[in-house]
Amino acid sequence: MSTTPNPQAADSPKTGAGGNAAAQRSCKVSASPHGEPPSPAGKRPAPPCTLVIFGAGGDLTKRLLMPALYNLAVDGLLDAGMQIVGVNHGERETREWIEDLHQSLQKFAADKASTFHAGHLDDRAWDWVAQRLDYLAGDFETPDTFARLKQKLAQAPGGNVIFYLAVGSRFFKPIVEHLGETGLLKEDNGFRRVVIEKPFGADLASARDLNAHILSYAKESQVYRIDHFLGKDTVQSILAVRFANALFEPVWRREYIDSVQITAAETIGVEGRGKFYEQTGAFRDMVPNHLFQLLGMVAMEPPNSFDAEAVRDKKAEIFDAILPLTPNDVVFGQYEKGPAGVGYRDEPDVAADSTTETYAAARVFVENWRWAGVPFYLRTGKRLAARRTEISVQLKPVPFRLFRDTPVDALTPNVLTLRIDPAHGTSFDFNVKTPGPVMQIGPVQSSFNYGDFFGQSANVGYETLLYDCMLGDETLFQRADSIEATWCAVDGVLHPQTGGAAAVHGYAAGSEGPEGANALLARDGRAWRPLTRDAVEKK
Ligand code: BG6
Repeated sequence: MSTTPNPQAADSPKTGAGGNAAAQRSCKVSASPHGEPPSPAGKRPAPPCTLVIFGAGGDLTKRLLMPALYNLAVDGLLDAGMQIVGVNHGERETREWIEDLHQSLQKFAADKASTFHAGHLDDRAWDWVAQRLDYLAGDFETPDTFARLKQKLAQAPGGNVIFYLAVGSRFFKPIVEHLGETGLLKEDNGFRRVVIEKPFGADLASARDLNAHILSYAKESQVYRIDHFLGKDTVQSILAVRFANALFEPVWRREYIDSVQITAAETIGVEGRGKFYEQTGAFRDMVPNHLFQLLGMVAMEPPNSFDAEAVRDKKAEIFDAILPLTPNDVVFGQYEKGPAGVGYRDEPDVAADSTTETYAAARVFVENWRWAGVPFYLRTGKRLAARRTEISVQLKPVPFRLFRDTPVDALTPNVLTLRIDPAHGTSFDFNVKTPGPVMQIGPVQSSFNYGDFFGQSANVGYETLLYDCMLGDETLFQRADSIEATWCAVDGVLHPQTGGAAAVHGYAAGSEGPEGANALLARDGRAWRPLTRDAVEKK
């Protein structure tokens, strides 16, 4: 990570505010070899804009948004005219907010376990950001807040404003409504964009309702529904691995692929988020959003270009093709006291008889020509044996068992693993002849680690998403139709009152998850890849 602020950051050249950013990006990606070469970093500063953060005092702002803005400033990717207005309930002075953020950033920078482990803060870069911060105290549901915000935004650079809703989901509707009623979403002079965090709805009906409400105040092109998994380089790289290499795509289909496992295992518990988690549970928190996004990247057809709509159309086709889940396809679990700590029911703000799941596994089928019959096994959970987010693509056995009747009768299957977190890279399991005079075959693994090739980059996962939003590039954001398609696919397992929810099995904190999850694969003659199979760093 570079800790020296780019001297150009303070006076970096402005790009045209009204320029077609999506076109700029797609030109950059598909530029002809005779076209203008991209800059060495391949990126230019975003257009000038004001970023309004609702939830300025919240965890997301401190932990991820401010570190990401700091990293963007260090890389010279923010315009000198950028302003950041934080809106929050509490009365306080701008300087107090700045001091609070500064302390948080320093704490995270020094904390090796934090995503923002910069080591130390660079004073010049921080000062650059701090000079652009402004605080507005106000209730998210009171018109007066928005009237005062409007006054503040009268001087917004280039008229461009991004409203970032880093707030609890109950505030999404009122904030968008007030922005609309106050005229703050009108794009008369510059762009107006709204970034919405997850959870985007809690089921199909609520997601539809939320979409309809938002779209009665803003156009779809103004709405940026965020899924932070798509901000990860390792997730974006799935398309690069698939479509920039001749090796993989020919076998990327049902004729050669046996099954796909998508895992997002965490060692942390609910970390003080008991209230949120009690209502949400592991399935809604992770499956129709983060895990389905990974599934979409693995399963989508090649788009004709990296234009936002081309990519999002192909992903939408996959979500539409997911066979609706039934209770038979899912297994839920809840952690109990174990080697890694207390049980979920003993966590703060959790009911002593809670049946909320902290683990979810699902078997998903994508009903299209390429994937018919190939199971995608998804699992996620808290307080598991290891932190591991990855996708393992297991190939079918070779067609002819050349080595039958020899000691190498049973071959280990080829598995390509795309490692998202905390290891970043890929590995491939294949077979070779072991040394010696006898024909023996042994499984080996070849690995690629990002850090070995590219060094460590400063990235908390929100840099690309914020930067793309400033540019107007929606490729990595969710369209209304895709959000609804993902909820539609899982709606059948969300409602216990209609017999839709699965039973919740216990599992020991620090284990591989509930037994029932093993049974889900065992009935198909398969098994999960162990979470603790090799030395993957624990979070
Ligand atoms: C969030 C969930 O969206 O993603 C959390 O609400 C989860 O419960 C987190 O811990 C996982 O993200 P990451 O990037 O840490 O793997």
